[in-house]
Amino acid sequence: MKYNFDKTLDHRYNHSYRWEQPEGREDVLGMGTADLDYTCPPCVKEATQLVCEENTFNYRKKPDSYYAAVMDWFKRKHQMDVKREWIRELPSTIGSIRLALGAYCRLGDYVLMQSPYFTPIKAAIEGAGCHFLTNPMILKNGRYELDLEDFEEKIRTYRPSMFILVSPQNPTGRVFTLEELQRMVEICDRYKVIILSDEVHFLITYDGHKHIPIMDVSETARKISIQLFSFSKGFNMMSLPYAMLLIADEGLRKRWDDYLIPYDFHYAVNSFSIAAVTAIAAGGGDEWLEEANAYLKRNRDLFAELVEEKQLPLIPLKPEAGFLYWIDCRKTGIEPEQLGKVFLEKAGISLNNGLDHGEEGRGFIRLNFGVTEQVLREAVDRMEKMFCAK
Ligand SMILES: Cc1ncc(COP(=O)(O)O)c(C=O)c1O
Repeated sequence: MKYNFDKTLDHRYNHSYRWEQPEGREDVLGMGTADLDYTCPPCVKEATQLVCEENTFNYRKKPDSYYAAVMDWFKRKHQMDVKREWIRELPSTIGSIRLALGAYCRLGDYVLMQSPYFTPIKAAIEGAGCHFLTNPMILKNGRYELDLEDFEEKIRTYRPSMFILVSPQNPTGRVFTLEELQRMVEICDRYKVIILSDEVHFLITYDGHKHIPIMDVSETARKISIQLFSFSKGFNMMSLPYAMLLIADEGLRKRWDDYLIPYDFHYAVNSFSIAAVTAIAAGGGDEWLEEANAYLKRNRDLFAELVEEKQLPLIPLKPEAGFLYWIDCRKTGIEPEQLGKVFLEKAGISLNNGLDHGEEGRGFIRLNFGVTEQVLREAVDRMEKMFCAK
């Protein structure tokens, strides 16, 4: 490997949310919040350093090189023709979701999502004065499947104005197939439901699972959807304010632009973000990403192997994408409400309780394996001790 993912900053002393230590402790392993421990590809440092050297932060337009690089990225990676006029940017994904709810929904509307879900999106929906509606996924033989009958039934009954698709899905790690996406598009089109597709986890996929951007599903999908993504998750650039929206339909674009006028966000995605994204989209991080994928796949598989070898009472559901393990803890005997607390206090591991992702997460935890192999092994050793001590 050209890049060393075993060597990272000590994030306990780096103001990291994930590695924040509880009062009086310095030994807690940060395995919650979805960012990575790894140093970014060198092209990010080189590009942002050039911005730094200018030391001038006037109002800036996005250069042609930025648009060209982004369009080229989609052509290279997804054989997809993205038109320049489709592209919009905002400083964050969740902020974009909240604004999209404002642009396309009215107070009191229903908004549909699959569950278990990513909680900040629920908060955005409720913050917009809308009703949160779920379409629970079904766990069958260790894999989550869509319940499309319930999906259509919920749409027919509640007539939501928007469906927020998280693709690949967080927290289940599912990569949806073309057929699944087509079925959801077809149903939404029939009932005039706008699709907002949050694709932030699209860069890390495993075992031949291929992410399909919503804009690449069909002509109908382009008419009724907004694609939302960023390079942040895959390249660990969460602190660089950036999210991109692709809006192909002219009518949807006009509603978005009209709604966004008073926010005047034109330069909010700053010069550092644009420089980093241009370098990445132009291919500067391709090799790094390939290696990060391989490293994360090894971590994912190693965790499952160690859990089995040590006979821990856990069932890790291997994700098809992303770096979050969704783990069935129902055999541990730990109260579902207490899972996060018990792992923190007894094993010194901070992670997310499944209940934070809705009722379908009862008895589950979400564990971030975007750490070094050493941290991952340490986490499993601590879990083993915790279960032996019980
Ligand atoms: C599905 C999903 N959407 C959005 C976000 C947050 O993105 P941002 O930090 O750009 O708001 C996350 C972060 O984990 C996520 O998992």
